[in-house]
Amino acid sequence: MHVLFPGSFDPPTNGHLRLVERAAGLFDEVTVLVGVNPQKSGWLEQKQRVKLMEEICSKWKHVHIKAGKGLLVEDVRRFKADAILKGLRNGSDFENERMMAEANFYIGKSVETVFLIAGNAEIGVSSSLVRQIFTLGGDISSFVPAVVLTELEKTL
Ligand code: PNS
Repeated sequence: MHVLFPGSFDPPTNGHLRLVERAAGLFDEVTVLVGVNPQKSGWLEQKQRVKLMEEICSKWKHVHIKAGKGLLVEDVRRFKADAILKGLRNGSDFENERMMAEANFYIGKSVETVFLIAGNAEIGVSSSLVRQIFTLGGDISSFVPAVVLTELEKTL
């Protein structure tokens, strides 16, 4: 089975990486789709986010990194994935994800979404909190891979 794991990854966190690791252990192929969330104003460029995900996922040969181009269900088709994969951290994720899964099932003509429950190791801190802590001069080294921290220090 081939799953498409979409997200903004702005920036990629240890939580994202742990989820990719679990997915890599479960599925034949995992495509990480570095997307654009129309509801969020971006921080890092999409190209930079793709490059960072490539670096931190390079040890898995069956994990591919691609850039998202609009509607998620179109990308599911473009990359010939069997389903969308999402992580669930809490109740508010559940409510949002339930709506998106239903919408994607409808507009994607039966595209399924599968969920992994994020454990303690994955809950960590969301990308938006990481951004806030970093912007205010806090230490994010335990929330993001080292290569991400280096890139952030260089760019911002
Ligand atoms: O990490 P995020 O910001 O929660 O990821 C959200 C993302 C990129 C997965 C979501 O915004 C998305 O699916 N964008 C593609 C546009 C789309 O298909 N929207 C309709 C989804 S129901």
